[in-house]
Parts: sequence; C-alpha cells; structure tokens
Amino acid sequence: MAQSFDVVVIGSGPAGYIAAIRAAQLGLAAACVEDWKAPKGAGEGALRLGGTCLNVGCIPSKALLESSENYERVMGPFKEHGIIATGVKLDLATMMDRKDKIVTKMTSGIAGLFKKNKVTWLQGRGKLAGAGAEGWQVQVSGDKGSETVAAKHVIVASGSKARHLPDVPVDNVTICDNEGALAFDSIPERLGVIGAGVIGLELGSVWRRLGSKVKIVEALPAFLGAADQSVAAEAWKIFTKGQGLDIELGIKIKSVKKGRKDVTIEYEGSDGAAKKLECDRLIVSIGRVPNTDGLGAADVGLKVDARGFVEVDGHCRTNLANVWAIGDVVRGPMLAHKGEEEGVMVAELIAGQKGHVNYDTIPWVIYTAPEIAWVGKTEQQLKAEGTAYRSGRFPFAYNGRALGKGESEGFVKILADEKTDKVLGVHVLGALASEMIAEAVMAMEFSASSEDIARICHAHPSMSEVMHEAALAVDKRSLNS
Ligand code: FAD
Ligand code: NAI
Repeated sequence: MAQSFDVVVIGSGPAGYIAAIRAAQLGLAAACVEDWKAPKGAGEGALRLGGTCLNVGCIPSKALLESSENYERVMGPFKEHGIIATGVKLDLATMMDRKDKIVTKMTSGIAGLFKKNKVTWLQGRGKLAGAGAEGWQVQVSGDKGSETVAAKHVIVASGSKARHLPDVPVDNVTICDNEGALAFDSIPERLGVIGAGVIGLELGSVWRRLGSKVKIVEALPAFLGAADQSVAAEAWKIFTKGQGLDIELGIKIKSVKKGRKDVTIEYEGSDGAAKKLECDRLIVSIGRVPNTDGLGAADVGLKVDARGFVEVDGHCRTNLANVWAIGDVVRGPMLAHKGEEEGVMVAELIAGQKGHVNYDTIPWVIYTAPEIAWVGKTEQQLKAEGTAYRSGRFPFAYNGRALGKGESEGFVKILADEKTDKVLGVHVLGALASEMIAEAVMAMEFSASSEDIARICHAHPSMSEVMHEAALAVDKRSLNS
C-alpha cells in the first residue's frame, strides 16, 4: 500500500526542513522530499538535505568569509596589535576542506534531526500528481525508482536557483554562479563579478582578501539601493577606497565570451562608452529565480505568477486547498530565516494552531567587513511615504570595545516616529552588525520606542552600547559624543 502522510514537504532547504520538523513536533506524520546531490568538493554526488542555504549558500559562504577575514587580519591589522607574522602562507585546499566539513556536519545534522523527530526522508524529486482519496498524490522519482505517496497537505518549499545571463553558459569553473564561486581550486589573479548585490559583495570580498584583483560591474546606477542610503554611501567608501574593491555602477552587459583560459566581458559604461573587462574567472550574481520546474504545477492548476513564483496569500496558502508554499519559491525576500518562519507558521496552521509571520521585522544582513544589517524602513522609504520621523546616529569610532577590536568603522542609525517615538527602522554598519540587529528586531517586534532602547542597560564595554547611544541620539542626548 502507498505510504500516507499528514504533511509532505517538497524541498529540504531551511524553509522545508523546518516545516517538516515543526509538523512532526505537533504530532503530524511528516515526510520531506529531496534529491539534492552534493556538488564538487567533499562527498560529491551524495544525497544531501539542507538545500541552497546549507550546501551552496549561507553556510559555506560564511565559512569562507571567516577564513578570508582571518587571513587578511594576519596580513595587515594584526601589526597594529604588535603581532608580526612572517612566512604566512595560504593553503586554499585546507580552507575549502574546512568549509566542506562544516557543510557536511550541518547537512548530516538535518538527517539526524529528521530521525529524532520521525520525519521520513523521501529521496527523489517530488511532483504534484493530482488529488486522490486521501488528499494529494505526490510522485517521488529517485535513483531507486518512483513511488506515489498520499498527503493530506503538501508544502512546496522548492527554493530558488541562480539567475544566469541569457546565452552565457555557466560551467562553474571559469564562468560561475554561487556553486562554482564557493569552490575555486586556485585564487584567480583577475576576478570579474557581474552584479553588486549580496553575493557579489560577499564573495567578491572573500576572493579580494585572498589575493584576487576584483572588479564588480553592476547594472543599477545606485549602490545597494535596498539599504538605507547613508549606510550605502559609507559602505561604498569603505569597500572601494578603503578595501580596493573596484565597483562600476550603471553598466550594460553587451557580451560575455569565454576564451581558453579567461573571460572577456564587453559592456557599456554609465556614460555610454564601450568598455572591456578581462578576467581569469567570472562570477555571475544577478539574483535568483524560483524553482518550479518539474513540480507539476500546470498539471494540477497550481498558480504561478509571471516571474515564476508560486502565488500565495499572507499565510502561504496557494490557490489549491491544502497546498501551501514557503521560502524562496514565494514572494518576499529570499532569506533563509524568512523561509524558516514561514515553515513554522504553515506547520502550525495545518495543526490547527494560530500561525503568523511579521514580514515587517525580517532582518537583512550582508556579511561584508564591516557587516551591514537592518530591519524596518530606510530613511528614503519614510521620506517617500511622507512619514515624519526623527533620526539618531552614533559611530563605532567612539566605542571602546570597537576600538579594542580594531573594528571601529561604521555606525548605528535609529529612525523613530516623530510623534509616537515608535522605532520604524534600525540600520547598522559595523563589525557584528548581524548579532546587534537582533536587539532591534526584538524592539520592533514589541513596538518599542527609541526611548525604550535608551532606557535599557547595555553591557560595557560592548558594541551594543552604540545601539544604546543611537537611541539616545534620537532625542539628541547621546552621552559619549
Ligand atoms: P532552498 O534552500 O533553495 O532549498 C530548496 C530545496 O528544494 C533544494 O534542496 C532543492 O533540491 C529542493 N527541490 C526543489 N525542487 C524539488 C522537487 N521537485 N523535489 C524535491 N526537492 C526539490 N540567506 C540568508 O538568510 N542568510 C545568508 O547568509 C545567505 N547567504 C546566501 C549565500 C549564497 C551564496 C546564496 C546563493 C544564498 C544565500 N542566502 C542567504 C539565501 C538562502 O540560501 C535562501 O534564502 C534559502 O536557502 C531559501 O530556502 P528554501 O528552503 O526556500 O530553498
Ligand atoms: P541580488 O539581488 O542581491 O543582487 C543582484 C545584483 O545584480 C543587483 O544589484 C542587480 O541590479 C544586478 N544585476 C542584475 N542583472 C544584471 C545585469 N544584467 N548586469 C549587471 N548587474 C545586474 O542577488 P544575488 O547577489 O545574486 O543574491 C541572490 C539572493 O540571495 C539575494 O537577493 C539574497 O536574497 C540571497 N542572499 C542573501 C545573503 C545574505 O542574507 N547575507 C547572501 C547571499 C545571497
């Protein structure tokens, strides 16, 4: 007899695996369909849980960011501490091996969590195969054959894949998307990057720190358009003048040609001039597209919008009864934690509980050095919508902990409603911004005012004191400036 489940999740990225575990915690019979095979590196070809995030996204990129930052520290800033390192060598193979081990540990950890929570891993590709007596039929096709299982509820969590340029084949050796860019076997002397978004900046920084001469070309005329513009302007100075990332904005790609050992990109500069970029390897990081191929969406009438996202309401319900969709495959920011929150919400709704995601308090982090993190509205958004606000800003340069760490670039900026003082947005450019933003998310989740943050005792000396001072600055009463 065919296996039957209360919930079948298609995809085991952060959205899918969290949904499956939460459903199982709530007493539902849960299964997760996944056929991801490890790309090049350790364990190549092995079936793996964890999706983009754990295999070729968040986790390996952060491992390389940390390694490359350590390398750069030894080569430069350590001297200021009186630590002189001679004969420093870079062993890229060990660095990659460390990254691969972290990925293996994390992905096999999910397999362990599935066992612990009694989530069944259906190894194969999942497809909605129509309705049956017990709800939905999901066809699972894998290396060992095909089976059809029954599901009262289906959660589509099929994620996203890198967007490629038309007619520019990605071989993940010379022309790479995120997969290849996380697995170089040597340090390219000249690295080209198309797209100055999150991946372009994070991975461009990794390879620059390890010795590549990096040139990033970006179509939009503004740098980091989604970030608060004061943060973007300061980050621009730090990344370009301070760190030597060469970023050119407002360009138009004309052609990308792969030679025997290099790549030539012909493009138009912002002034219309014809330009050429020659590099040894190229990273194409121009955004991601939702994964709906092979899901059987058209056959069962699952609505997908013009850009390929599965259409959902505020609670991730699709147009089909008992079919839900979460994570990168639906609208909203393509962030792991956003997908995880949706996974929990949907599992709880299926179990008859109340579930909710506050899309207004999802934090963004860009893991450059310094990091960029924000939650809520930017100053330009508040201006555009005509909201009256007050702003408080405080630099890390006046903070003892930041000076001690030798990481005193950047600032915290808090935007609060002019009348009610409710916090509307918090923007951090600085070391550990990814950790500091959690306080701001909590404050906004509890509808705090800037005065609430100003009245909270912050440990001394800590980077978080800058959040405190920025809150005081909203009321023009910073204590240390
Ligand atoms: P995915 O992680 O894409 O997982 C979807 C899974 O579904 C895949 O495993 C796929 O094999 C599977 N699948 C698809 N179709 C089927 C099918 N028919 N049958 C069975 N299985 C199927 N986000 C952050 O929040 N922080 C970061 O630091 C961060 N860094 C990133 C760095 C890089 C280089 C990249 C590329 C992304 C990064 N992201 C980051 C984004 C993050 O990875 C995604 O937002 C997140 O992985 C989305 O989760 P998901 O579960 O929706 O989809
Ligand atoms: P992105 O959307 O962040 O940036 C893509 C950039 O490419 C944009 O600036 C865009 O204007 C530019 N672009 C698009 N087409 C172009 C063209 N033809 N020529 C030149 N430039 C072009 O996308 P990215 O960096 O690929 O990352 C994908 C997604 O993955 C992110 O949006 C984010 O959701 C997620 N991610 C999150 C991270 C984090 O949370 N720290 C890290 C990495 C990725």
